[in-house]
Amino acid sequence: MQEKMTVPAIRARKGGPKLKMVTAYDAPTARIADRAGADMILVGDTLAHVVLGYEDTLPATVDVMIHHTAAVARTKPRALIVGDMPWLSYHISVEESVRNAGRLIREGQAECVKLEGGRKRLPAVEAIIAAEIPVMGHLGLTPQSIHAMGGYRVQGKQVEAARGLLEDARALTEAGIFALVLEGVPDVLAQMVTESIPIPTIGIGAGRYCDGQVLVFHDVLGMHNDRMAKFVRQYAHLADTATEALQRFFEDVQSGAFPAEAETYHMDEETTHRLRDSIRNEE
Ligand code: KIV
Repeated sequence: MQEKMTVPAIRARKGGPKLKMVTAYDAPTARIADRAGADMILVGDTLAHVVLGYEDTLPATVDVMIHHTAAVARTKPRALIVGDMPWLSYHISVEESVRNAGRLIREGQAECVKLEGGRKRLPAVEAIIAAEIPVMGHLGLTPQSIHAMGGYRVQGKQVEAARGLLEDARALTEAGIFALVLEGVPDVLAQMVTESIPIPTIGIGAGRYCDGQVLVFHDVLGMHNDRMAKFVRQYAHLADTATEALQRFFEDVQSGAFPAEAETYHMDEETTHRLRDSIRNEE
């Protein structure tokens, strides 16, 4: 059995074998991710969109994130459990940020938290780390800023924006984050960030130079037929497989082919006779 992944173990992988991270939102998806060899399972706020059917990630609340993180944690994965801090859980005050991060750890059993944003979020990041909670950063296309960004757009394409992102990455690293997600940025910028900080970068739509990669479970496995972002590679088409399987089930129900003998419980003959007699005597 491989050793449990921890925050120091993830940090030590800088420049080493690429880190593998995938989202999971419940016990079955966490078990699959862990069995497949994930180093980190991210209980991402993408769950609002992916499993709860909302348009974006903004409706996720701390309570919802705890509910799903705890389901993942109950599977006791080898992978490090990363609890995502939802929108408004670290934007109001430093105290609230620490309290919410603490709830994800205590009630959700996450082993670290992730939050979006750069220098603007430093007071919250510093306070959470001071409370002994490891923090993973997230820069670039930060979905919680969808309205401020004017949609899901690649970030850091111009010199000023790219320099700002590099500054953010350095400031977060100095504040003590242990890893950094880079989402939706040009590969050369991700490479510059990766080369300029001593902690692992995890890319999603950020090219090949990061220290690891993350994708959303339901995207990788084709569990929906929504339009996919350019950076997604689908390794299966489970939505189609599942639809075909259910269609065969429904056909068997209609034709009477299901359930068969092997799927049926029986009562022994003598008990059946006694039951019939007792019903007849009642009539
Ligand atoms: O919420 C999430 O799933 C994420 C990943 C897409 C990085 O933040």
